Amino acid sequence: MESPFKADILKGKVALVTGGGSGIGLEISTQFGRHGAAVAIMGRRRQVLDAAVAALRSEGIRAIGLEGDVRKQEDAARVLEKTTTHFGKLDILVNGAAGNFLVSPEDLSPNGFRTVIDIDSVGTFTMCHEALKHLKKGGRGEGPSTGGLILNISATLHYTAAWYQIHVSAAKAAVDSITRSLALEWGTDYDIRVNGIAPGPIGDTPGMRKLAPGEMQSKSREYRPLYKLGERWDIAMAALYLASDAGKYINGTTMVVDGGLWLSHPRH
Ligand code: HXC
Repeated sequence: MESPFKADILKGKVALVTGGGSGIGLEISTQFGRHGAAVAIMGRRRQVLDAAVAALRSEGIRAIGLEGDVRKQEDAARVLEKTTTHFGKLDILVNGAAGNFLVSPEDLSPNGFRTVIDIDSVGTFTMCHEALKHLKKGGRGEGPSTGGLILNISATLHYTAAWYQIHVSAAKAAVDSITRSLALEWGTDYDIRVNGIAPGPIGDTPGMRKLAPGEMQSKSREYRPLYKLGERWDIAMAALYLASDAGKYINGTTMVVDGGLWLSHPRH
């Protein structure tokens, strides 16, 4: 679907997107690129990165792929250095990297729980921590929005409770908390805005393929009136809005993009 935004709203900006090689992260990278940004994508799998970079470049987007694991502080520091060396600065960090699998609490080992916390929560903090010195310098472009930006991809699972997602729910609750704390402190000290996006179920993503939506599309839809799949595009448009000058007064919020699903109840 075509974007409703002007093609130059991120002109001159440099973004680093973790988990940018596939799914929602790749769509955000693509839309940022189409709207003028240069994009570095970070991920663990070289082949996935190479394919994504080729696709971005085929559209004329300035893009590089950098291998790394957000669980490793040295990877985070190296990827950020390479991004700024290559593109000259950093304006926007998108924390899209996440781990997920369905498992009941009794079958989940503490190490499995820790693994997802390490990727989603600690990984998000690590990337923010290592990005700070770059974001302090970057984000000083033209236009009313002068500071840097961090966008954390979250979820709505933890607003209530979700079956077989105890680890992800805990991890994303921490992510939302990190968003608010950094928005307060770095918004005040460095004019860096920190926001989140909480997607609902988005079709054609590794997350949904893994979480097996078959059941959702059939019977349980009857019990969840607002259930419909979103598109990766919906999340990328929210990211564009938050990253552009349109979002200059938005700080510390996590925008839910789920068609209203999380608050819906069956009709009685
Ligand atoms: C139970 C599991 C498991 C599973 C891993 N573990 N997979 N436990 N069921 N399916 C446990 C392991 O037994 C081990 O604990 C611990 O987790 C670490 O596993 P490893 O395989 O060694 O870890 P690693 O290779 O680092 O992989 C971690 C991973 C990751 C979390 C499995 O590779 C991953 O999930 N990749 C997929 C990324 C993905 O799907 N991203 C999209 C996210 S979508 P023990 O005790 O045995 O040592 C998303 C959306 C959420 O986040 C919202 C949805 C609406």
